[in-house]
Amino acid sequence: MGSRHILVSVVLALAVLAYVLVLAYAPRPLQVSQVVSTTEGEVFLPLPRPISRVSIEEAILLRRSIRDYAEDPVALEHLALILWAAYGITEPRLGFRAVPSAGATYPLEVYVVVGTRGVVSSVGAYLEPGVYKYDAHRHFLKLVKEGDYRRELAEAALGQPWVEEAPVSIVVFAVFERTTRVYGERGRVRYVPMEVGHLGQNVYLVATALGYGCVVVGAFYDDRVKAVVGAGAGEEPMYIIPIGVPARRHYVAFEDVWNYITSKRTGA
Ligand SMILES: Cc1cc2nc3c(=O)[nH]c(=O)nc-3n(C[C@H](O)[C@H](O)[C@H](O)COP(=O)(O)O)c2cc1C
Repeated sequence: MGSRHILVSVVLALAVLAYVLVLAYAPRPLQVSQVVSTTEGEVFLPLPRPISRVSIEEAILLRRSIRDYAEDPVALEHLALILWAAYGITEPRLGFRAVPSAGATYPLEVYVVVGTRGVVSSVGAYLEPGVYKYDAHRHFLKLVKEGDYRRELAEAALGQPWVEEAPVSIVVFAVFERTTRVYGERGRVRYVPMEVGHLGQNVYLVATALGYGCVVVGAFYDDRVKAVVGAGAGEEPMYIIPIGVPARRHYVAFEDVWNYITSKRTGA
């Protein structure tokens, strides 16, 4: 075989290899059953592990409410870690979670509204758009409703555009009865809202540490949010938290804070 034939064979082999790689890695719609899952409509999430190299102090410094997002999706592994930080299990022996809870009554339920091409897995496949419910004990998402419900959710949130534009939103509900049956009215007006705040801050900090931006949204029509999400009986909406890659990088240095404090001290 002449050197010309060898060259042609090598070029052909490389072309076939490139085609196979493109087929293997090109993003494509992901059926729920294609993600590590056992039964239809159940998405077993990547297990929680330390990912970010951002210290807790830096995350606090850099946390801001972000309402403008790039087109990029949220990585499934990152969404999984954010959900674990929101309400996941951190003490397996007792079933305790990432946030403190009055009497360990855990009144909150966490849903996720995933937009079209909103969440991408490590092999470049997209999660089917839909509304999912987070199961902390099995660290998985259960499909509640198929479809992209971001517009309806934004309309339920007084038309706040960031709710429609974010690739994914966490929606937090409370079942007040779990806490009020132990603590009465104090559970409703104090303990449950406090717990929602703990959850919201964990979401902010882990999202920030992973390079995402989010905003807690408390202004919405309760009944409309419940209908959009398909919430269960007794579940009352507390927060919508849109999450996405920030359109612009927000940066502040500790030095800026030192300068501010120093100027206040000296009255400069
Ligand atoms: C209880 C609560 C409800 C909020 N509701 C909304 C909301 O409906 N829409 C919104 O864009 N931001 C909302 N925010 C975010 C605040 O506007 C934001 O935290 C504030 O402007 C301070 O900015 P920062 O979070 O960047 O520090 C809410 C914050 C809290 C604590």
